[in-house]
Amino acid sequence: MKNKNAVFTIWLTGLSGSGKTTLANALGEKFKEKNINYFCIDGDILRASLCKDLGFSDEDRKENVRRASCLAKMMNDQGQIAIVSLISPYKVDRETAKEYIGEKNFIEIFIDCSYEECAKRDRKGLYKKVEDGVLFQFTGKDSLYEAPENPAVHIKTSEVDVSTSLGMIISEIDRRFPLFLS
Ligand SMILES: Nc1ncnc2c1ncn2[C@@H]1O[C@H](COP(=O)(O)OP(=O)(O)OP(=O)(O)O)[C@@H](O)[C@H]1O
Ligand SMILES: [Mg+2]
Repeated sequence: MKNKNAVFTIWLTGLSGSGKTTLANALGEKFKEKNINYFCIDGDILRASLCKDLGFSDEDRKENVRRASCLAKMMNDQGQIAIVSLISPYKVDRETAKEYIGEKNFIEIFIDCSYEECAKRDRKGLYKKVEDGVLFQFTGKDSLYEAPENPAVHIKTSEVDVSTSLGMIISEIDRRFPLFLS
């Protein structure tokens, strides 16, 4: 495995069901093809393990993002590409993660999909639970999602398919780290 001297964190942020994990996995497959080391840090896996003690209060969401950023930096420091797929709803926490990881190594990607469209997809049945009044503190409903103002890549997943979305991420990697994927 080789990483051609570039190390960075891909940070995918967006609502539940917007497409973060789907695109993290697609990017991982691309890296595998190229024999590139990478490590996925996914919201669902974190919440079932390292962040099991956290809930969905503002402070806990902040802590969840902080732990993910610590892991990403640890990975980067050891030469691994980190792919973070995490709702990470608050701008200030993503900015802190960017500063901690290092601006030049941090690629923020806004996985943009409206609440209504995510609710139609409802992969995990969470939107139905919100509608039924049994799930609270849900991002985009009664918990705030602050969209990035200036993401490196802005993907509207209700308008472009997975392969086009992946292409947009790859173009940004090519632009920032020429030859990395060649
Ligand atoms: N362009 C696209 N990119 C990614 N996913 C897409 C796109 N278009 C449609 N989809 C679909 O949207 C859904 C996204 O689900 P996914 O589990 O990746 O969301 P998520 O953002 O990881 O949600 P969560 O925060 O709940 O983990 C999938 O069913 C996927 O096939
Ligand atoms: Mg996911």
